[in-house]
Amino acid sequence: MQIRVFADERAVADALAVTVATAVRDAPHPVLGLPTGRTPVLLYKELVERARAGALDLSHVTTFNLDEFLGLPATHPGSYRHFMEHHLFGHLGSRRPRAHLLDGTAADPDAECERYEAAIAEAGGIDLQILGLGTNGHIGFNEPAPELRARTHRVLLRPETRRSNAGLFGGDPEAVPREALSMGMATILHARRIVLIATGDSKARCVRQMIEGPLITTLPASFLQLHSRLEVMLDEAAARELNGN
Ligand code: GLP
Repeated sequence: MQIRVFADERAVADALAVTVATAVRDAPHPVLGLPTGRTPVLLYKELVERARAGALDLSHVTTFNLDEFLGLPATHPGSYRHFMEHHLFGHLGSRRPRAHLLDGTAADPDAECERYEAAIAEAGGIDLQILGLGTNGHIGFNEPAPELRARTHRVLLRPETRRSNAGLFGGDPEAVPREALSMGMATILHARRIVLIATGDSKARCVRQMIEGPLITTLPASFLQLHSRLEVMLDEAAARELNGN
């Protein structure tokens, strides 16, 4: 595992934008896994700026988002599809990637999960998976639980997760859907390379447990320790509880 600590979230976003730009530049058909949440917003802003300046083209790239709320149409402002259009895809014009997201309105959610797994396999698997970190240790929507699910699945969201997503729903946790669809732990761990970004004080404890603690299903991100090509990019606030800091 490679851990890189930066002065602030701006520097994390800049460094990850370089990583993304380098990863897609020389590959003929790169496949990216993408997160939502507050943490990647600056990254997406930086990618849009690079694309506008003609320095980045994602038109040969395929993307798969990690997760989506169940029951929300793509047009709903709280949907992750809407989030991605708003922060990234909608600003790229002809440079936009071939973007895949789970369909939260699918009539048969289990079939939708199977379709998604098949689409990832069809694309040749994920080359670079970018991850955020839930304050309860979730990745995607793989919530702390006695058992974790390997593949893309339907999940009941925990109260703290609904609270942390309330910003997308006018600040009201009750307005956040109770269920979601998410890539599973194996879907994520099969990516050839993973970069997790975490910024801010609220992630510090979880970052320490993820990196220094045992592998436990109550902290799903701890299983990332199994990956042979994992990079963790932190700002100083998120790194402050790490041994040696
Ligand atoms: C959501 C997403 C996760 C994301 C997490 C962290 O719950 N499903 O993929 O990593 O939030 O969000 P934030 O970056 O806002 O802290």
